[in-house]
Amino acid sequence: MKGKKKMVLLNPGPVNTSDRVRNALLRGDMCHREDDFSKIQRNVRDMLTDTFARNDIHTAVIFTGSGTAAMEAAISSSLGEGKTMLVVNNGVYGERISKIASIYGFNKRELVCDWRKPPDMDEVEAALEAHPEVEVVALVHHETSTGLINPVKEIGERCKRYGRIFLVDSISGLGGEEIDLVRDNVDICMGSANKCIQGLPGLSFVIVRREQMERMRNLPVRSMYLNIPNQWENQEKGGTPFTPSIPIFYALEAALEELREEGVNNRIARYKKASSILREGFRRLGLTLLLPEEFLSNTITALHLPDGVSYQDLHDNSKKEGFVIYAGQARLKEDIFRVANMGELAPHELTNFLKSLEKTLGEVGCRP
Ligand SMILES: Cc1ncc(COP(=O)(O)O)c(C=O)c1O
Repeated sequence: MKGKKKMVLLNPGPVNTSDRVRNALLRGDMCHREDDFSKIQRNVRDMLTDTFARNDIHTAVIFTGSGTAAMEAAISSSLGEGKTMLVVNNGVYGERISKIASIYGFNKRELVCDWRKPPDMDEVEAALEAHPEVEVVALVHHETSTGLINPVKEIGERCKRYGRIFLVDSISGLGGEEIDLVRDNVDICMGSANKCIQGLPGLSFVIVRREQMERMRNLPVRSMYLNIPNQWENQEKGGTPFTPSIPIFYALEAALEELREEGVNNRIARYKKASSILREGFRRLGLTLLLPEEFLSNTITALHLPDGVSYQDLHDNSKKEGFVIYAGQARLKEDIFRVANMGELAPHELTNFLKSLEKTLGEVGCRP
């Protein structure tokens, strides 16, 4: 990057991007009602299904809006009239699903679980058995609030067995964690451009099993902007009902090309390696992790704030050194901080961060 010194973003999105992705923004002015845009939109939608699912089984819809727009679209467009949504909730984003379901006045059941572990599969199964009115089961793949990976495959298998629709928020998972939408019986999956896909913020998407799209087309329309069938029908015809964020499409197209060149498995391996460099360093510095090793994602480490250290001081000192770390959320706000390793990060940037963290911890009064 030319000019200003790079700020190393260790927050879970928006992430550091490549020159290629940022330069894509300069592709020039374009009208969204022209063939040029239709081609880009088609290419991006095809790359999404081809990379994360299968074109003949799933189809993609893109929204100009952040990840929450995709969440709201998926939740509001997927539940049949009078049916119930079961929300598996073990973190901030599980809570958000539940809140959205409430805003739309949906019947819902919540399986509220410990934030530091995956849900108990016996409890999930018991809920499905006891509540035949549950039509949609909603789960967050990677709980960004703690860095915990939820068991998509196991819950997908139960959804299939009990004939329920499986809705997964993989906004911080796709591109960084192992998931197979076909194998895992995922019917509806939300994602966003600016996390492990390494695009820029402003676009999110929903990947939908084609038979579910047909079902959703017969449900009542509950939102003008965030209705999946309306967006999909327009996008299938090469159009878009509203004005999209065209430059962010350019960037997402470049980011998906880059991801496919790197290979999803290689990207996952790169992130895994990056997180192990960081975690080894954290342990050396005497920091303790919120979660046990076996539940950890490849891209976020939540750490207890050492006694007497304020997050604000830690953040401000790290930022002076060129690193942006991230606070805990909700009930964990006072207790933890988070370090993410999504995006275009070189190994030396991670080791430099660890050196800077050691210095910062000393400066804020914590000598490991
Ligand atoms: C799992 C998950 N879901 C949803 C969101 C919401 O995305 P946004 O902040 O882009 O609306 C996030 C953002 O971090 C997330 O990590």
